[in-house]
Amino acid sequence: MNALLPIPPVAAIEPPLALLAELTHRCPLQCPYCANPLEMERAASELDTATWLRVLEEAAALGVLQVHFSGGEPTARRDLLEMVRHAAACGLYSNLITSGVTLDAASLAALADAGLDHVQLSFQDADAAQADRIGGYRNGHARKLVVSQQIREAGLPLTANFVVHRQNLDRLPEMLALGEELGASRIEIAHVQYYGWALVNRAALMPSRAQLEQANAAVAQARADLRGRITIDYVVPDYYAARPKACMGGWARRIINITPAGLALPCHAAETLPGFQFPSVRTTSLGAIWRDDPGFTRFRGTAWMPEPCRSCEQREVDWGGCRCQAFAMTGDAAATDPACAMSPDHFMMADAVAASDAVAAAGPAPDLVYRRIRTAALVK
Ligand code: SF4
Ligand code: FES
Repeated sequence: MNALLPIPPVAAIEPPLALLAELTHRCPLQCPYCANPLEMERAASELDTATWLRVLEEAAALGVLQVHFSGGEPTARRDLLEMVRHAAACGLYSNLITSGVTLDAASLAALADAGLDHVQLSFQDADAAQADRIGGYRNGHARKLVVSQQIREAGLPLTANFVVHRQNLDRLPEMLALGEELGASRIEIAHVQYYGWALVNRAALMPSRAQLEQANAAVAQARADLRGRITIDYVVPDYYAARPKACMGGWARRIINITPAGLALPCHAAETLPGFQFPSVRTTSLGAIWRDDPGFTRFRGTAWMPEPCRSCEQREVDWGGCRCQAFAMTGDAAATDPACAMSPDHFMMADAVAASDAVAAAGPAPDLVYRRIRTAALVK
């Protein structure tokens, strides 16, 4: 951490809206853009059930409203039902973020019965063969189609999440149509973010400007066609934007992230930043972490900001963008996000776009590099 910049005052801190509970890094899929860190936690170092239940209680006491059970694949945890039941007892709205391939009608009925409120199901493509290739899981897409029906039969609202990139973006209209066909109440179109394993595959995944313009048009058309029936979440990726997004809703403002081993983070990629020692929920309460931990207060608010953010009228809109992207691109986590056209480093985004256009013009995308961490567990 840069010791020269001041730590802002921590008075009047709002509680987080949401707890992102990364229950495990284990996953049956092997998506080449996985957001998990390069060094993943093994099952033996995961938090035990009792600690997760305590964390849920502390979250509710702190004022958290929603818990997102995520991973990896959260159904790899055999105690997921117990956690869902406890979240409901604590008054937390619960969302399961899943690949779906380990679920079935019985496990979904059990989850609904335990009090689960919502399921977010990820898809790798609208084309089965391509989806299975990207996810590295045979017949995974067909399984997801069945599971999405079972989710609705269990009475659970469904968000269909499609991660898009150079190798599937041309099929975005088919993805939007599939989301509608599956009865999703929300469709989320998420461009790959280039941290962790995705950075390894950036040349193979980053779309060209022409692809992006077509995708923007497809989303605009679908929003018009589906207005009032299905919400479509879509954000133009940073590489093609003039202003950054408010990553995580601002550092330590809306979301608290717990890793499988129990580290509390202001964002899922915060461990990529040097000089931080993030606290563990094994030894520190969630409330104390949120209010007082130096890693959380470091970039909260606006006092840490350099120019041009410090005097910019957008500073409480985007909160200076993404700290992890700023570090990944400039080597300085306290720099203005290069996604902003006012950043002195904005040329780096243009360079990356030019490089991806050149790769696209040169022919087929480079081969994807996969990694592997498996689980076979099911929710019972
Ligand atoms: Fe956001 Fe900073 Fe750019 Fe202003 S200068 S738009 S606050 S990133
Ligand atoms: Fe860490 Fe954006 S991913 S602040």
